[in-house]
Amino acid sequence: MMYQRPRRNRKSPAIRKMVQETQLSVSHLIYPLFVTHNKKDKSPIVSMPGIHRWGMEDLLQEIEECLALGVENFVLFPVIPEEKKSKKGEYSYDENNFYLKVAQEIKKRFPEANLMSDVALDPYSTDGHDGIVENGVILNDETLPILSQMSLAQAQAGFDIIGPSDMMDGRIAAIREILDVHNYTNTSIMAYSAKYASAFYGPFRDALDSAPKAGDKKTYQMNPANKKEAILEAVLDVEEGADFLMVKPALSYLDVIHSLNEHFTVPITAYNVSGEYAMVKAAAMNGWLDYDATVEETLLSMRRAGASAILTYHAKDYAQSLKK
Ligand code: PBG
Repeated sequence: MMYQRPRRNRKSPAIRKMVQETQLSVSHLIYPLFVTHNKKDKSPIVSMPGIHRWGMEDLLQEIEECLALGVENFVLFPVIPEEKKSKKGEYSYDENNFYLKVAQEIKKRFPEANLMSDVALDPYSTDGHDGIVENGVILNDETLPILSQMSLAQAQAGFDIIGPSDMMDGRIAAIREILDVHNYTNTSIMAYSAKYASAFYGPFRDALDSAPKAGDKKTYQMNPANKKEAILEAVLDVEEGADFLMVKPALSYLDVIHSLNEHFTVPITAYNVSGEYAMVKAAAMNGWLDYDATVEETLLSMRRAGASAILTYHAKDYAQSLKK
């Protein structure tokens, strides 16, 4: 006699679905898109097969396709030409910045699209760091006004969510203040709260040509060994006005997603980063993994850990797999 037989709850697809604890749907996904200054452009990113850098015209078409598939959330990253880069990244809030114009155009054409920005100096910086560099040191407080200007320009361009990925101390408060002073009280902030100094960002830095010219990011991004420190970062971000807390990368940090979700009432988001995408894609292209099944399992694991939303390069593929 065996009283408990857990297999009874797995005996048919209907029962399995009935007792499924975690749901994953396209509405949870945020699709990252790389934007270039050329109007017409679609260049593949070698280390991220299937992902491109887009010029505005092709980008609008890509977004239209995604919307038709139910992907409604997008985060934009700019590929800045070398001649526009500088020590302090002033081009980031220049009114001629193509990134801002592209955002305006997207919101005009597709007001229903939920558009998130990236705030950090690295795409705009000749040093390739997220803050101002002086004698090899990344300056914190001197960087904050630039991040604030950049955020204000993005809010004015129509971005729905501002996404500070820089990891400077005090930036959420600085950004919330400038937005509110200019009456952008309805513009949200998604804080990259627990952003680790990770080897998994490699393909992204190829895509943007934004790798640090010297040194690494360990004085501002977190040590992968730490979890309590993620809670400290999150406490500060919530106090300073963050609407969402992000953990990045996702797969090696599911425990951190879980912890933040236990401790905080604001939604937690996970960034399934470029290197995580590249690993799955490369294995699938070699025939070593079933792509659709692996993507579903990894995204589901992030939801199970406690993520409300997931930034993922798999978003469009996943949406397409559901139509099959
Ligand atoms: C930089 C930024 C990075 C990513 C998003 N914003 C890279 C970095 O910190 O060097 C990485 C995203 C990915 O790997 O997919 N502010």
